[in-house]
Amino acid sequence: MVAAGTFTRLDPVNWPGCFLARSDATDVARVEDRTFICSLSKDAAGPTNNWVEPFEMRRKLKGLFAGCMRGRTMYVLPFSMGAVGSPLSQIGVELTDSPYVVVNMRIMARIGLPVFREIDRAQKRVVPCVHSVGRPLADGERDVAWPCNPEKYIVHFPETREIWSFGSGYGGNALLGKKCFALRIASAMARDEGWMAEHMLILGVENPEGEKTYVAAAFPSACGKTNFAMMIPPRPFADKGWKVWTVGDDIAWLRPDDKGRLRAINPEAGFFGVAPGTSQKTNPNAMAALSRNTIFTNVALTPDGGVWWEGMTKTPPSECLDWRGQRWTPELAAASGAKAAHPNARFTAPAVQCPTIDPAFNDPEGVPISAIVFGGRRATTLPLVFQAFNWSAGVYVGATMGSETTAAAAGATGAVRRDPMAMLPFCGYHMGDYFRHWISMQRSLSETPRIFHVNWFRKDANGAFLWPGFGENMRVLKWIVERARGRASGRETPLGWMPRMQDLDWTGLAFDEEDFEALMAVDRKAWRRELMEHEELFLDLRAHLPKELLFERELLICRL
Ligand code: GTP
Ligand code: SPV
Ligand code: MN
Repeated sequence: MVAAGTFTRLDPVNWPGCFLARSDATDVARVEDRTFICSLSKDAAGPTNNWVEPFEMRRKLKGLFAGCMRGRTMYVLPFSMGAVGSPLSQIGVELTDSPYVVVNMRIMARIGLPVFREIDRAQKRVVPCVHSVGRPLADGERDVAWPCNPEKYIVHFPETREIWSFGSGYGGNALLGKKCFALRIASAMARDEGWMAEHMLILGVENPEGEKTYVAAAFPSACGKTNFAMMIPPRPFADKGWKVWTVGDDIAWLRPDDKGRLRAINPEAGFFGVAPGTSQKTNPNAMAALSRNTIFTNVALTPDGGVWWEGMTKTPPSECLDWRGQRWTPELAAASGAKAAHPNARFTAPAVQCPTIDPAFNDPEGVPISAIVFGGRRATTLPLVFQAFNWSAGVYVGATMGSETTAAAAGATGAVRRDPMAMLPFCGYHMGDYFRHWISMQRSLSETPRIFHVNWFRKDANGAFLWPGFGENMRVLKWIVERARGRASGRETPLGWMPRMQDLDWTGLAFDEEDFEALMAVDRKAWRRELMEHEELFLDLRAHLPKELLFERELLICRL
């Protein structure tokens, strides 16, 4: 790949085992409008998914894939999502003509010979995944550094558990174990088999007594999962013995065990994390994880063979090559506004390189989940934190959550949309049936995890964040785990239970009481609008909506 120009080797002393890839400028993020759920009926896919009749789609794919790999090498890539041999794991085989995909999958999943052996041993169903960049080469034709095709199709057949991806080499479009398998196909498997496939990080909070509480949290793409999963508690917390352990940063598979406790595994083996904003200050654990054996995509290249992105250091390098390979200086950027790194630039780093990786990371049984947290990126309306009254109220909170769109998907950014459970682009079937599945999970649990909602992104009238975020989120996380264990107090509000200022631990942070009030405010006029947006989502899903959610909505209206 270095010879082909796809990869640039970084400085082997400062960045051992690290490479930079620059994608085509038209292939930089997931393409939601080119993603299809081709179930037998349109009604099974639901109104939030793009649907094409499967017979018609298969005919289309046959045409696209015929001869599409000509002149390239096809790789046969067996992979396990979850530790090889775990009862919670699933197996796929990806055929791909992209070596970039192979080396990324080698970090993101367990691949290779042990997986072939597991296929023979366990006789597990294998999910076939076919991927092509869609750029055949004529005899003697010189390849480009990042082959792709302007026509893109990311296609799922949920009933036959198949994935076909054409035209993109980037991230979730092409690393098919990730969003295509571990969320879209797995969500359909999970519904049929009584478990859950969720867009969630998993972390463990250890208190000074050494007691550990595991939390899973669903935030939409580029809304803080990686940062929360690797959080370092503020100094006074750390000194007392509080510690946060990382199990996963993007996807969780959850299943009730034989005692009725919800247990979770991270099906991935690496982090495909957002680079911009990642720094020694905001996320030192990610910085350690990506310091070696890491693939960088669409970040800037510094003259000394290192990488840089916006937010990595306070002062930018005096010059570098931007993600397109063009000369970039702070002065040029001040004039043009051009970013050195693409806003969706990513690092692919092995999970075991994270200093806080949990000892149970490879545990085939997974970790017990005591709390589930939902959160969006919301400049207004949503308070810093509240706890839902019970499971069905919590499902309502997740089902109706909204968030501003980000650079993780192609299209406009900053518009608030409903993103139920952060699964809008990732649910492999009808969203109303998915809510019903969530509601029904309670019956197989002897103890339901407590459900919370957080918002790190509320802004003041001048557009500045009201909450410092990152490590300071520990103050909220501490309240969450203590609530989950029935220890912390709060007050009842129309939304749920909320901490008063004195219910949070402020050691080491001078936070203004007025700012806290602004951060926690429940503005009834804004909530009126919010409820209308809930209703719009519910109208779309009405035929499949479980009645519990209609009742929860009525109760919320009455309380407000
Ligand atoms: P995906 O990998 O796309 O699923 O994203 P993610 O949910 O893992 O988001 P990530 O942690 O990578 O954060 C995305 C962006 O949000 C980065 O630019 C972070 O710097 C920023 N961010 C994360 N946590 C916080 C926070 O607590 N406060 C603020 N203000 N920004 C945050
Ligand atoms: C996301 O967009 O939620 C990601 C990145 O985690 S991708 O793998 O491209 O989906
Ligand atoms: Mn994600």
